Amino acid sequence: MIRAWIVSTGSFVPERILTNDDLKSLVDTSDEWIMERTGIRERRIADKTEAASDLAYGAAKAALKSADLKARDLDLIIVATVSGDMLLPSTACILQDRLNAKKAAAFDVNAACSGFIYGLSVANAYIKSKLFKRVLVVGAEILSKFTDWEDRTTCVLFGDGAGAAILEATAEEKGILSAKIHSDGSMWDLLQTPGGGSRKPASRETIRRRLHFIKMKGNETFKVAVRTLENLVTETLDENNLKPSQLSLLIPHQANLRIIKATAERLKLPLERVMINIDRYGNTSAASVPIALDEAVKAGRVKEGDHILLEAFGGGVTWASALIKW
Ligand code: COA
Repeated sequence: MIRAWIVSTGSFVPERILTNDDLKSLVDTSDEWIMERTGIRERRIADKTEAASDLAYGAAKAALKSADLKARDLDLIIVATVSGDMLLPSTACILQDRLNAKKAAAFDVNAACSGFIYGLSVANAYIKSKLFKRVLVVGAEILSKFTDWEDRTTCVLFGDGAGAAILEATAEEKGILSAKIHSDGSMWDLLQTPGGGSRKPASRETIRRRLHFIKMKGNETFKVAVRTLENLVTETLDENNLKPSQLSLLIPHQANLRIIKATAERLKLPLERVMINIDRYGNTSAASVPIALDEAVKAGRVKEGDHILLEAFGGGVTWASALIKW
């Protein structure tokens, strides 16, 4: 049987660090509130000239280098993002050009914070069906450019960054064992960037009403996320006849430390077996899972033969999991 396995990972984050104390000069907040309610201590913020494809490029180059591959070896490039360089063309095409990946097809996936795992699932399907042999999946976000820096309920949460993985076909007993993607569009209004699309095209009025910034019903989203993720992780393990105790590492989307802890508790997983870096990066949306995966790999927390579980919940609403034998 042909499976898709992750040959290499890479990540890239902007240099500038914005701490909770720095945010106090922008909105009425405190380090205590942010730490207690979210677990975030600081986040990375891109500079004025950087766009999502620049961060994607950094992560993709790191993944290519780590696998000792050239960009021309890629058959397909998938970029998961909700903060791409432009509405048209796709950030994946801009990245393809920058990498000079002449042979590759390229497109974006929009599934908000679940985007990277959606990308993995698409790559997995293409590889298993033998249409493509080698796929680059990148999660890249610059949410800071769509953040309302006057809204304390959202501006403390998000950060910028990118993570990447290269997948290849293998006949060995390893790689993606299951990739599950789900959505429930009836809750599309929980998280949205209302202005600048075809519903409310950019105008003086949309800008005056700050509609080009991300809006989130935080508390409602929180409750749905906890409930959904708890079910998702138990279902994924059950369907693969695995017990939580057989899981070496859980790599969750980093939206809120309280959500991560609730999921770990449901699986009775000690926090040593959960990858947590939300304190340093905040919520980087589609970039959060691949950055965490790359850091786990670099830190030696993922070894050959280990079972690891990636999971995420995001706007749409969408949710997704990938169970991988490393
Ligand atoms: N600093 C200080 N106080 C703040 C604040 C901030 N940055 N942001 C909100 N508050 C206040 C609110 O105004 C509210 O005050 P009130 O009670 O006087 O009205 C109070 O804190 C509680 O707000 P609430 O929104 O109920 O807090 P919460 O416990 O739900 O935490 C989030 C807010 C955003 C951290 C949380 O809801 C969350 O993480 N949501 C989900 C995010 C998520 O999962 N996203 C997934 C896809 S990306």
